[in-house]
Amino acid sequence: MPISLYLACSIFSTVFGILAALPSWDQLEANLSRVDYDLPPWIHTGQVTQVRTQLLFTYIQSATLTELATSFHLIQQWEDVRLQYDASSIIFAGKYVLVDQDKYATIWTPDSYISNAISEVQHSVTKPNVFIRIYPNGTLVKSTRLTVRTPCPLKSQGFPRGSQSCEITIESYTYSASEMSMVWDQQNPFRYKHPFSASSSSVTNIKEGSCTDPTQEYPCLKYNVGIVRDFSQYILRIYVPSLFIVILGWLSMWIDKAQVGARTSLGVLGVLSIVTQLVGVVSLGNGLEGVLAIDIWIAVCMVFTIMALCVFAVVHNMKRRKDKSKNKYKENSGTEEGDEHSCCKIQHGKLQNIFRVVYPFLFITFNVVYWAYFLNVN
Ligand SMILES: *[C@@H]1O[C@H](CO)[C@@H](O)[C@H](O)[C@H]1NC(C)=O
Ligand SMILES: *[C@@H]1O[C@H](CO)[C@@H](O)[C@H](O)[C@H]1NC(C)=O
Repeated sequence: MPISLYLACSIFSTVFGILAALPSWDQLEANLSRVDYDLPPWIHTGQVTQVRTQLLFTYIQSATLTELATSFHLIQQWEDVRLQYDASSIIFAGKYVLVDQDKYATIWTPDSYISNAISEVQHSVTKPNVFIRIYPNGTLVKSTRLTVRTPCPLKSQGFPRGSQSCEITIESYTYSASEMSMVWDQQNPFRYKHPFSASSSSVTNIKEGSCTDPTQEYPCLKYNVGIVRDFSQYILRIYVPSLFIVILGWLSMWIDKAQVGARTSLGVLGVLSIVTQLVGVVSLGNGLEGVLAIDIWIAVCMVFTIMALCVFAVVHNMKRRKDKSKNKYKENSGTEEGDEHSCCKIQHGKLQNIFRVVYPFLFITFNVVYWAYFLNVN
């Protein structure tokens, strides 16, 4: 049959052609340390070498409030025609060969680095976490596992609530854009190995950033990690306790004025508890600039507890003065006991009654304004 004959002929000629044109892997490997495969591919081809990049994330977490820790496999793929070889010469025919680690220096690889990293680690347990594959068609794939910490500014205004966008830049260290280009893998630039851990912040999205800055001399790639801060833990740790301290301040207004010891100790305890919380909040916001939403909350709670104490001080003082004058009247003229005392009594009793209403009213008003603003900022 002519068709099958033609097919057989063409397959034979193709295979034979490859066999004739391409060396076997063994021949190529024998030359790795002698021939200049460590020179960039464009010196050989005269064309810009395109490096396709893919990231396989294993871990993303905001290490501190203003830093992001990311672990990923940096997978880069490029062509080097000098390293084409006959596919039938390897055991896994049609697949690839893994280069031995001692040969890494004899093959050209991109010199990408994370240009905005604060610190970075290349993992090497139990052996260096890096491999280079060479496909028969001259395609090379290099994978390196890295953990990098990058700055990630947090808008202070809404803290502990808020979202962040952290930008990470992968750049070529030595080669210019006329020699090497960097592009994202078209199908799937970002992959994930595990679901992310979600303590105090969760990753909402990872997307490509633009690297078209005209001052950018070297080829680069950018990506953005979006993070939303979870503030539910702060509700239990800060907001609820301080709320109860403010309520205690209000309750103290219902204790008999005569119980000086009870009211003073309750008031002072409230102020002290808020001060303790304030210390915690100050250390929480370490590294953030400006006034934080949580600072405002604690400051206002402090004003309220101090207010409760002051109201008692004033009421008590008025009462004492009244008692004094009462005694005076008793001493001077036992008969003229009347209008003045009842007027004073009404005054300090009235003041306390006013504050029993004004205090919660002011606090509720503050809460409405605070939460309306806080939940809408960002
Ligand atoms: C090995 O190197 C020699 C000398 O540079 C060269 O002639 C030969 O073609 C190379 N062989 C392969 C398989 O690259
Ligand atoms: C070479 O082979 C690899 C693996 O089969 C493939 O991913 C790549 O696209 C090929 N490259 C070219 C230029 O055909």
